[in-house]
Amino acid sequence: MSRVLMVASEVAPLCKTGGLADVLGSLPAALREIGEEVAVVLPNYLDLQLPSEPAEVWPEFPLRCGSHTFPTRILSLELNGVTHYLIDCPALYARHGIYGGAGGDFWDNPVRYAVLSLGAIAVSRFLFRPGVLHCHDWQASLAPIYLRSTYSPDPTYLGIRTLLTIHNLGYQGRYGSYVMGDIGLPMSLYHRDALEYFGDVNYLKGGIAFADAINTVSPNYAREIQTPEYGFGLDGFLRARSSRLSGILNGVDYSEWNPETDPGIARNYSASNLAGKRECKRALLAELGLPDSLDRPLIGIVSRFADQKGFDLVEQAAADIAGEDVAVAVLGSGDPRFENSFRQFAQIWPRVYGVRIGYNGPLARRIEAGADMFLMPSRYEPCGLNQIYSLRYGTIPIVRATGGLDDTIDPGTGFKFWDYSPWSLMGAIRSALEAWRDRKQWTAMMVHSMAKDFSWQVSAAEYAALYRRLIG
Ligand code: ADP
Ligand code: GLC
Repeated sequence: MSRVLMVASEVAPLCKTGGLADVLGSLPAALREIGEEVAVVLPNYLDLQLPSEPAEVWPEFPLRCGSHTFPTRILSLELNGVTHYLIDCPALYARHGIYGGAGGDFWDNPVRYAVLSLGAIAVSRFLFRPGVLHCHDWQASLAPIYLRSTYSPDPTYLGIRTLLTIHNLGYQGRYGSYVMGDIGLPMSLYHRDALEYFGDVNYLKGGIAFADAINTVSPNYAREIQTPEYGFGLDGFLRARSSRLSGILNGVDYSEWNPETDPGIARNYSASNLAGKRECKRALLAELGLPDSLDRPLIGIVSRFADQKGFDLVEQAAADIAGEDVAVAVLGSGDPRFENSFRQFAQIWPRVYGVRIGYNGPLARRIEAGADMFLMPSRYEPCGLNQIYSLRYGTIPIVRATGGLDDTIDPGTGFKFWDYSPWSLMGAIRSALEAWRDRKQWTAMMVHSMAKDFSWQVSAAEYAALYRRLIG
């Protein structure tokens, strides 16, 4: 049994922008089930969706970060039997938005996430003494650095080991070197084997340099990030630490994502009774204002609109897709370029593209349930959760064979393409449409996909083994 304190910037269902939140919302409970002791630290954002009033476990204390001292409290909340510590620092978190607002990212994010790490270290001192401090992404990457620098003379922290999980190498937390003073780290750490990166400070690089172990969220992505193509400039740095780097595939929480029990879909269904899925499709077509043609395949898309997700390929192939006998249900938000493209497609081909721009959890589920196929043409994908949810909903994934998409989809459960090109994308879509025509075969594929098991069982045990190795 290990004692593990996770540090992260998003935790479902409290706050979420992507899959990181899903992982933090399910892995801790899965670890607890196999006997690990786990707690979670996150910021007390203004917009947290709190199921109950948190308790105050550490009334006001001054949290020092560089030359600033922030009045801070620590609150706690039980979720699925796991204690969540909320760092309540109003100067930094009492505002709408997680990472930013309409005007872009918050300017003080370097300090907001330094304080998250410092808050986690404060929790480790008095509230939950961990064997492993498990940090997620750049937002928690300073914790290993503070532990090994600022706090290294402090015997309180002796023996605490650190694990950094990289959910996405494309986001590194890169700021001007001026932040070194604001986050209270000495310039001696501003060098190329620590935080310095092409004249900037790079939080994720610092975490990689200082963490005792590093992992990513699929075995394939762990290999890919050591290559120039996927390394975002850190591939050499990662290769040099490859003995500390591993890949553990994300699991999913089937009590949350299951068409048999999902209360938010038009009608529940299962592999042995698929009738409800047609109802879900009918309802989705109606909701999106698409023609009520159940015999025309419906492709679903639910995504952050970021370069990573490969929608420039869909932009290039949009007319060809519209030329097929198919409809497309789209939900997404992010880069205005893609928001506008999809809005345009809906205007030009209203019978083909049903588009909703925005972030909408309930609609995401209705698309998973109502679509026949699910498209993820990612340029890169550390793990990807939507294709795994799709499998369970009998919604056949069409994916680019990269990262976790390649690890989780095989020829019996979905359609893959390799080249990052609109031609390859169209090839995979046409293969899927072709396969759809053989309804018996297609149903067999759905049933096979729905039986795939990506629950946390296996992966949580891999994390537990990694913790044990770390603690020694
Ligand atoms: P990423 O974390 O890179 O965005 P994942 O596939 O790991 O990709 O996870 C995405 C998660 O975010 C899924 O739970 C998905 O349903 C959700 N999601 C993404 N975009 C939206 C949206 N526009 N509305 C609702 N949920 C969304
Ligand atoms: C990141 C990745 C995604 C992964 C998620 C959870 O957001 O983009 O591929 O599934 O983290 O690990």
